[in-house]
Amino acid sequence: MAQAEIGLIGLGVMGSNLALNIAEKGYAIAVYNRTTSKTGAFFENAGELRERIVPCTRLEGLVKAIRPPRPIILMVSAGQAVDEEITKLRPFLSEGDIVIDAGNANFHDTMRRFGDLEGSGLSFIGMGVSGGEEGARHGPSIMPGGDKKAYGRVKGILNAIAAKFDGEPCCAWLGAGGAGHFVKTIHNGIEYGDMQMIAEIYGIFRDGLKMKPKDIAKIFAKWNEGRLNSYLIEITASVLDTTDPKTGKPMVDLILDRAGQKGTGRWSAIEAQQMGVPATAIEAAVAARSLSAMKDEREAAEKLYKRKVSLPEQKPLPAGDLELALFAGKIAAYAQGFAVMEAASREFKWKLPMPTIAKIWRAGCIIRSQFLDTIAEAYKAGPVTNLLVAPSFVKMMAEAHPSLRRTVAWAAEAGLPVPALSSALAYFDAYRQGRGTANLIQGQRDFFGAHGFERIDMKGEQHGPWGGHG
Ligand code: 6PG
Repeated sequence: MAQAEIGLIGLGVMGSNLALNIAEKGYAIAVYNRTTSKTGAFFENAGELRERIVPCTRLEGLVKAIRPPRPIILMVSAGQAVDEEITKLRPFLSEGDIVIDAGNANFHDTMRRFGDLEGSGLSFIGMGVSGGEEGARHGPSIMPGGDKKAYGRVKGILNAIAAKFDGEPCCAWLGAGGAGHFVKTIHNGIEYGDMQMIAEIYGIFRDGLKMKPKDIAKIFAKWNEGRLNSYLIEITASVLDTTDPKTGKPMVDLILDRAGQKGTGRWSAIEAQQMGVPATAIEAAVAARSLSAMKDEREAAEKLYKRKVSLPEQKPLPAGDLELALFAGKIAAYAQGFAVMEAASREFKWKLPMPTIAKIWRAGCIIRSQFLDTIAEAYKAGPVTNLLVAPSFVKMMAEAHPSLRRTVAWAAEAGLPVPALSSALAYFDAYRQGRGTANLIQGQRDFFGAHGFERIDMKGEQHGPWGGHG
């Protein structure tokens, strides 16, 4: 076999599927895994694709097997493992070689790694990859950022392995430095928001409307044919429809209500806060995961408060309302996620291509949906300050927000938690309130700290008379 076009380190679930995808698209690939037996097993199971795979047991061998300048994908756990692999790899690399971190890195780490490699002659790409196991194998959404020239060297391969939407590859260079990993982080933040809001609606069906998982599954499956059409709604229906072979009970009823998190959702909320961009629905989703982990505390508090769900006297909400409520919540969460990216683009001078981001999320990634095409269209129509004020969104939100309002009110009265949906509603209501209530906050700040305020009828900083009270 001629020299490989590309190399890959880390044959875990994502790495091995990505390697098979690359080989399947006709590119020879050299692969390496720290645990050598994994490399052997991967190669043995690669079937016909073996003819384009070079299994390597040493890093030096991996490097030698690739045609220079060598692109090498790292698909190892985010964090320290990436630094360790780069350190081990560096002695074997030469000028022009390209290190591509394809894990879920924190973009601050990516920026630091750029700094570390500066002047070394090596190029670095920080690349978000979304789509889980299936996506990696048959077409993920790919979000590269960093060295644009180096990207040119791998663009062909990445476009070939990426998911396609109407024939267009879901892959695009997004900007310098940590741009790719930042966009992937916000993708995951939005993913948290989507998943949490779906779970809240499931809670209303389960605890409010006392429905069985299989019946709820049917509703989600139907919604998947309409405006909510998306991968996450589709898999929600499948999860709810699954029966545990051991007990014959619905699988979902046997799963502990404690959800894990690896960090990307939290980073989205942290970065939003850092930049002063409200991302309340995403923050609520992250907090809900943290609360889910406090199982013992929640159980104790339930007993202490003798909790019971008391259904409101008004009629149960029609499923049509819940569908629209979820849609309205989704609009607000996406508006927030995109606003965070706009702010980051300014702050880090990335010039993030917002319409392109919406486009490359239309297929392959976890949040893929029909809705992302609507977002891409909104960006195509003209500059967007916030999706909530894009003309097509104003129309959709005007139709959907009354349902969100009724749903949140109904759930609040029943005692059912809907933190992400209610945060989305509060954000929407605050965002469209021309005169808010921060005039009072300013009065308070000036009262206790002489922080000053602006008057609506005069220019310049003012202070209150506060009379005998100041
Ligand atoms: C994706 C997923 C993927 C992974 C998340 C899960 O886009 O393919 O988002 O990156 O499943 O890291 O994150 P949590 O473990 O935090 O839920």
